[in-house]
Amino acid sequence: MKLDTEGLDAICNLVDDLCGIYLDSSKDYLIEGRLADLVKKHGCNSYAELARKARLGASNPIATDVVNAITTNETLWFRDATPFNALKFKILPELIDAKSTTLFPRKLRVWSAACSTGQEAYSIGMTFGDIVPDVANWDLQIVGTDVSSDAVRRASEGKYSQLEVSRGLDQVHQSGYFTQAGRDLQINEVLRSKCRFEVRNLLQPFTTLGKFDIVFCRNVAIYFKDEDRKSLFRRIADQLNPGGWLFVGSSESLTEIGPEWSPQRHCGAVCYQPKAGMLAAR
Ligand SMILES: C[S@@+](CC[C@H](N)C(=O)[O-])C[C@H]1O[C@@H](n2cnc3c(N)ncnc32)[C@H](O)[C@@H]1O
Repeated sequence: MKLDTEGLDAICNLVDDLCGIYLDSSKDYLIEGRLADLVKKHGCNSYAELARKARLGASNPIATDVVNAITTNETLWFRDATPFNALKFKILPELIDAKSTTLFPRKLRVWSAACSTGQEAYSIGMTFGDIVPDVANWDLQIVGTDVSSDAVRRASEGKYSQLEVSRGLDQVHQSGYFTQAGRDLQINEVLRSKCRFEVRNLLQPFTTLGKFDIVFCRNVAIYFKDEDRKSLFRRIADQLNPGGWLFVGSSESLTEIGPEWSPQRHCGAVCYQPKAGMLAAR
């Protein structure tokens, strides 16, 4: 099915409204490649008709299909390595130490915002497990959210093929955190019990998720318009506990997240904390 100008405009506006991903005519190949099957599946004669149908009523399954098809869910275990080294050798030991004198010395909350199929959230859990032997006795809460319901379903299942597990995961983590489930490998019970996943659009309010000690928001804001990106990182700052940390993707920097953040380099990773005035100013 050929994408004409009317269809292009209708799909770009729809995708912007559904998940904030910015598309224009330079992405016509991507729209055709990912949505052509949906045009047929939903009995439409054009992309414009698909967009019109997707807008009918709340929780529309066509809209859900469009989001699942248009999002790029590429991810890896321990993606880029350095953020996880910073977690392991600097951020987690210091947070654990700081928590030890508080009312909840064994409570730690981490948000994998745009978690895709779960590898990022589980890698955070494995990093915690690498340095804290009795994880089961910790109130470790890792919350993974993503706008794609397909991705969130897969993350919640925590089941991966041998090929998926071998992409980026060393033998120690492969044997330490999985059980065999038929031909697949499943994240073990202890780690799964520390992680929960839900569908969330980052461009909508997320205050109900509560406060976090660490937020990973990596390789997603690159798809948003400048004003959406700035607003996202300002709202993330509001969700951080005092002394909390933000990790962004390796190609993302202060230019994208805003000058209100203070960068620090640890173990080759750049991690961010809100500047003192940022929270007081609101
Ligand atoms: C490239 S993946 C990054 C996954 C992981 N954070 C990583 O770095 O490996 C981008 C993810 O962002 C999600 N996404 C795109 N727009 C979103 C939005 N508005 N709200 C929440 N998630 C979104 C996509 O569904 C996709 O799973």
